Amino acid sequence: MNDIQYQFVKKILNSSSHGAKEIGRSFAPSNIALCKYWGKRDDVLNLPCNGSISISLGEKGTFTEIKRTNKDVFVLNGQIMSCESLFSKRMTSFLDLFRDSCRAPGFEVITTNNIPTSAGLASSASGFAALVLALNDLTGWELANKDLSLLARIGSGSASRSIYNGFVKWNMGKSHDGFDSYSELIDLKWYELRIGILKVDETEKKISSREAMKKCVATSKKYQAWPKQAEEDFHNIYNAIFEKNFLLLGQIAEANALRMHETIRDTVPSIDFFTNETYELLEKIKKIRKNGIEVFATIDAGPNIKILFLDKNESIICNEFSNIEIIKPFKDPNA
Ligand code: PMV
Repeated sequence: MNDIQYQFVKKILNSSSHGAKEIGRSFAPSNIALCKYWGKRDDVLNLPCNGSISISLGEKGTFTEIKRTNKDVFVLNGQIMSCESLFSKRMTSFLDLFRDSCRAPGFEVITTNNIPTSAGLASSASGFAALVLALNDLTGWELANKDLSLLARIGSGSASRSIYNGFVKWNMGKSHDGFDSYSELIDLKWYELRIGILKVDETEKKISSREAMKKCVATSKKYQAWPKQAEEDFHNIYNAIFEKNFLLLGQIAEANALRMHETIRDTVPSIDFFTNETYELLEKIKKIRKNGIEVFATIDAGPNIKILFLDKNESIICNEFSNIEIIKPFKDPNA
């Protein structure tokens, strides 16, 4: 167990109440970053080199159930996971931070994703957020969202944003102790906004975002320019959301994603998350845009694309992409 992480968790749990449920249950939405988190200034506490902003994927995400047991058992999408699997190892070391506060030597965790696991559709984000929410339900800690986002961040940086549903900003923070690097909800609903998922490849990626991030920061020459430009994107995207300026939001989000992947390709040896189909789809998106339709792409650490567009263009977009899954991030109560 990592002592720095343990002390961090302890400080958050110290003042919280304790109920006793038999099973803790939760759901956390997946999120796609419009301004990406790429690069850490602290690997242990997952402190980022830039702030990031995301949008949740509505009902797509992770359902989790957790129980106290004597020995860890992890079930992912109906399958018992071997303790040698990467999934189990990450769960075990994260749960190590909570065993004494929960008075549980082990946990049975049942995780169900309705998005592909580890194919760059942000399942680790919703996974760790759902785990923290389920622990909070199990124990009756009744933690504030800010504290839940700090805890989820220790599991996976982007998980800090999956505590909320909607537009979320994760503040970079400056302190060494990591308590000012938390996520918060941006209080704005944009009913006309649509996200389209274009699945290119759902198999597990060859390199995790965690590993790629580390190698990229250490060896990519282009990385030097990333944090400053990303902070600028962060502020511009934040303003575009408030102004409901879709063109500006889309342009900055797409440029930010493409710049991140360019920076990743500059890693030594080079890492490329895109497949031929990703490149072809990006060309197609550009072409549609040339015909006057405002549609923009963003891509996390994987080959799959999410496109952003407005409801008025939904039927045109559906005709262009046969294999598209459309998400309404905000449900209009009057629709
Ligand atoms: O949270 P991690 O360690 O899986 O990193 C996520 C990184 C990106 O998905 C590529 C960007 C982001 O902000 O979500």
